[in-house]
Amino acid sequence: KPKFAVFASGSGSNFQAIYDAVNDGKLEAQAVLVVTDKPGAFVVERAKNVGVETLAIKPSSFSSKEAYEQEIVKKLKELEVEWIVLAGYMRLIGNVLLEAYPNRIINIHPSLLPSFPGKDAIGQAMAHGVKVTGVSVHYVDAGMDTGPILAQQAIEVVDGDREKTEERIHAVEHDLYMKTLQKLWSR
Ligand code: GAR
Repeated sequence: KPKFAVFASGSGSNFQAIYDAVNDGKLEAQAVLVVTDKPGAFVVERAKNVGVETLAIKPSSFSSKEAYEQEIVKKLKELEVEWIVLAGYMRLIGNVLLEAYPNRIINIHPSLLPSFPGKDAIGQAMAHGVKVTGVSVHYVDAGMDTGPILAQQAIEVVDGDREKTEERIHAVEHDLYMKTLQKLWSR
């Protein structure tokens, strides 16, 4: 079973959904670590609740991005992590991680890429007035939400209602991410 780490900066609802899928036998893999750049994020609590080890370190306490990522890679290698799953990790992945895990880093993004990359994709889509948005799962490269796409699902915007649109997006994310990982890891 492939061993993976989840990187997250926020609530961690996608971590929870992936963890639950593993626990329910829908995703054949092993969640061995949660990495966060925000030690106070709710994802840390979620990881503790289910007994997954966490690495919570602030980039600002390192001399460089490289040094920060080297510390992460050290832990990943110790735990023999094979795949990195980004789930609301709001930071660009640098060369140290990209070189340690070539074609082994996956991300989920709440838009139909290449539309609305970067922060607050849902807000960007609402502001643009699109009628259809969606979710993308893709390989990570050095760009911002730019790597090869693995899966996408379209979602109709609830007119002018960000909250309802967001609910739809999160529900799709929680289903699409684990299904895409299961396909990727079973081939
Ligand atoms: C998710 O909607 C994810 O797609 C998004 O952050 C949210 C995290 O929610 N990621 C990005 O915007 C990446 N550019 P969660 O912490 O509840 O999983």
